[in-house]
Formats: sequence, C-alpha cells, structure tokens
Amino acid sequence: MFLLCVSVLYANDSFITSLEYGKMLYENPRGVGCMECHGRYGEGERIAKYTHKKQAKIIEAPRINNVEFKSFKIALQEGKRVMPKYYLTADEIAAIYEYLQAVKKEQE
Ligand code: HEC
Repeated sequence: MFLLCVSVLYANDSFITSLEYGKMLYENPRGVGCMECHGRYGEGERIAKYTHKKQAKIIEAPRINNVEFKSFKIALQEGKRVMPKYYLTADEIAAIYEYLQAVKKEQE
C-alpha cells in the first residue's frame, strides 16, 4: 500500500510539466500575479492613468516576453520602482521565462 501511494504521488508529480509550472508561477507567484500588470502573455499593459499638476501621467508595465534572460532575472531579483520585489528562486525565474517564451511563440 505504501509503495502504491508513493508511485501515485510520483506519477502525479510528473504530470505537471515545467511549462505548466512556469504558468502557475506567472499567474500566482508568492506575491501579486505578474499578469495583473504585464498582461496575460507578458505583452505589457497600462496599469494606471492619472493627472498630476494638470499633466496626464500613465504608468505602464513593459512588455516582458522579449527581454533577455539576464535582464529578466536581474529585474526580478532587484525589484523596480513600481514593480514589487519578488523572492523567487533561480529555477522559478527560469520557469516563468520559459513559459513566456513558449506562449509568445504560440501567439506568433
Ligand atoms: C504592480 C505591477 C507589477 C507586477 C505585479 C509585476 N510587475 Fe514587472 N514591472 C512592472 C513595472 C511598472 C515595470 C517597469 C519598471 C518599474 O517602473 O518598476 C516592471 C518591470 C519588469 C521587468 C523588466 C523589464 C525590462 O525591460 O527590463 C521584468 C522582467 C518584469 N517586470 C517581470 C515581472 C514578473 C515575472 C512578475 C511576476 C513575478 C512581475 N514583473 C510582476 C510592474 C509589475
């Protein structure tokens, strides 16, 4: 019985591919989901529009499915002005990156 459980667990585990893992992390990292700001496929999105001293201001999250892995990783590890800092491991960052590259190809 124990052996059976182990093998079932193991089988379930391999059901989730690294792409699914990346998707899961993109939508639900430990913090605000990336898609809330960067859009469903990392295509970039307008976050807010407001007026300051009679000037229209727009805050946008950039497109992130076309950046190099190196800057992608740095942005995530250091955080940015608007973007929150995330505490993702190198593997998690790589999984998100791969997921974005894969969905980008699907769209093209
Ligand atoms: C609250 C909105 C918000 C969330 C949530 C968010 N970002 Fe960002 N992100 C931004 C903004 C805005 C920038 C542009 C830099 C700045 O002003 O902070 C940015 C910049 C980036 C960059 C740098 C792009 C470049 O051209 O160098 C990457 C990569 C990135 N985000 C990936 C992610 C990933 C992956 C997640 C989820 C783990 C995420 N972001 C979550 C708003 C967000």
